[in-house]
Amino acid sequence: MPIRILRAETYPILIGEDIFDEVQVHLREPEMKDAKYILMVDENTRNLCLPLLLEKLEQFRGATVIEIPSGENMKNIPTCMEIWQKLIDLKADRNTVLVNVGGGVLMDIASFIAATYRRGIRFINIPTTLVGQIDAAFGGKVGVNLSDLKNQIGVFANPDAVYIYPALLKTLPVMDKLSGFAEVVKYALIMDQHFWKLLRNVNFVQIKFWDDIIFRSVEIKNRIVKNDPFDKRLRKRLNFGHTIGHAFETLAIHRMDQSLSHGSSVAMGIICETFLSSKIKGLPWEIMEEIASYILQNFPYYPLEGDDMGKIIKILQQDQKNAGESVNFTLIPSLGHALIDQYCDPETILSCLQFYRELD
Ligand SMILES: NC(=O)c1ccc[n+]([C@@H]2O[C@H](COP(=O)([O-])OP(=O)(O)OC[C@H]3O[C@@H](n4cnc5c(N)ncnc54)[C@H](O)[C@@H]3O)[C@@H](O)[C@H]2O)c1
Repeated sequence: MPIRILRAETYPILIGEDIFDEVQVHLREPEMKDAKYILMVDENTRNLCLPLLLEKLEQFRGATVIEIPSGENMKNIPTCMEIWQKLIDLKADRNTVLVNVGGGVLMDIASFIAATYRRGIRFINIPTTLVGQIDAAFGGKVGVNLSDLKNQIGVFANPDAVYIYPALLKTLPVMDKLSGFAEVVKYALIMDQHFWKLLRNVNFVQIKFWDDIIFRSVEIKNRIVKNDPFDKRLRKRLNFGHTIGHAFETLAIHRMDQSLSHGSSVAMGIICETFLSSKIKGLPWEIMEEIASYILQNFPYYPLEGDDMGKIIKILQQDQKNAGESVNFTLIPSLGHALIDQYCDPETILSCLQFYRELD
């Protein structure tokens, strides 16, 4: 794929197998002249991604490397404190630019560290997972978890640039790639019916056109974020599948069951919220069935047992404490369109969980 360049709010997003000439141009611009780069990696991206980037980008050779151990459980304030201290020890100053090489976890924490160190230093994101490339590396939300509360501490901050090199995904474990695929399906359903029609004819394992998928996904999210950078309204369209998906994830955590990934819980959430879209917003039934069947062909089904349905409704109501008994969803009345702030009562939610349970 030739290089494609998108303009985000204040920064470019370069995508493609041929980005490096353009990256060199960016790194040679006058404002980068005095840049002192620090490369932020985890142990996997240090071994699997950094050598290739150093080969392509001479500017980063010889730069200090800081390693943050991988894993969601490292995305917290104690880790930030260690890294802030390292930056102080290294005498990092306003000329320092953090180059974040990693998945969504590394993007979130390293960008947050950059945005808060000395009231903010510059950073460049080079995402190495599908979630990172199509979602976490841009859009401005950076932050960390506080105990078991996800992304509770954070700020809005934009990188100087995002370089998306799809070939970095070659070493990514398949389950991590599948996790990002749930977001791809979501983008298609909320914004682009042609994209959905392309996807529905091909299963995840058969896909060869990843570069196009990444580009289209980035384009969709970027368009939404540009219209609502601070998540006041329209950005809520990105929540499709996530309200019930998050409740599935919480249920699995309560059970100490690690088999349900974030991506798979979003996929199960998409099934349930597509049913709701059909039931209360008129999405044609056959389209709902097509979407549910596509998800089941591509993601592992997570069975609900005993009183799980009641537990999920309680989790949903706790998550949205101020909305009374009803729960607020983003729903799709037709392919490629999303409506935010759609309230559903507990009986309607129960009916979608019953539908889901019978898919087993
Ligand atoms: N800020 C946002 O807008 C935003 C959006 C979506 C997700 N997120 C966050 O992203 C995180 C999830 O990100 P993720 O799914 O990328 O998981 P991750 O960052 O934990 O990466 C998954 C695993 O893959 C490894 N890895 C990374 N690149 C690799 C490569 N090229 N080859 C082999 N292994 C590689 C990592 O070391 C890690 O072990 C969550 O914390 C979520 O909250 C943030």
